[in-house]
Amino acid sequence: MTLVDPNGMPVRVATDTHELPGLPAPTPLIFNFGHEVVRVNAMQRPPRQPAVVQRLGHVVVQTTRYRASLDWYLEHLGLLVSDFSYYPGQRERGPVLSFNRCDRGSTPADHHTLVLSLGPENRYLHSAYQVADLDTLAAGGEYLLDKGYHRSWGIGRHVEGSQIFDYWRDPDGFLVEHFTDGDMFDNTLEPGWAPFSSSGLGQWGPKVTSDFLGLHGAAGGYGLVPGAIEGLVSVVNALRDDNEFDVQRLLGVLKGARS
Ligand SMILES: [Fe+2]
Repeated sequence: MTLVDPNGMPVRVATDTHELPGLPAPTPLIFNFGHEVVRVNAMQRPPRQPAVVQRLGHVVVQTTRYRASLDWYLEHLGLLVSDFSYYPGQRERGPVLSFNRCDRGSTPADHHTLVLSLGPENRYLHSAYQVADLDTLAAGGEYLLDKGYHRSWGIGRHVEGSQIFDYWRDPDGFLVEHFTDGDMFDNTLEPGWAPFSSSGLGQWGPKVTSDFLGLHGAAGGYGLVPGAIEGLVSVVNALRDDNEFDVQRLLGVLKGARS
């Protein structure tokens, strides 16, 4: 069944699909954890190879009608909100971004499967793919560097969702993420609330880059700061149209990006 969300984006709902056998699980590395020595007379040699993707983890979409879109996804797909973000100083105007997860009852689900973010344009921002562990993620990044891909931001650990992340742009500017060790929630947790700030996106790792924030024209990872000429055009159009992106929201984006 194909639905259309309030942004005009087609959403294909598939049920009772034919399940294929999973790929063979990688053999976990054996770690000497602090003083706990379990690997003796054996070298640590994780393979330096392209990261084997285990599954799609989440998709992040920007919308000019965040609240209407969120309501639509909550109603039609039964998603749960894991975390809300609001612009600094605009708590009373409500959230502008949320990390939404699937309701699988007592079965744990990714902290976010769909992220919705208010912005001046309806567009894809990034999608994220799970890999087995940090070594897989880092070695996969070395491979992409060798191939001339551009690291947008990473390696670091997120706050909301807690994933170890590594963001990459392909030669066309398409943004994807490798991640590992994300939070898994069942349906008993209430949503968290936090002001959006670029410094609050990571627990550790390099400072968030201007590329990830979208200052170079291509959409940012959360689409928060519209850069370059085409970004400015979309801002002007969004301010003129009837939607949720207004001047106060634009100021909120800029404040959040600087903090
Ligand atoms: Fe992500």
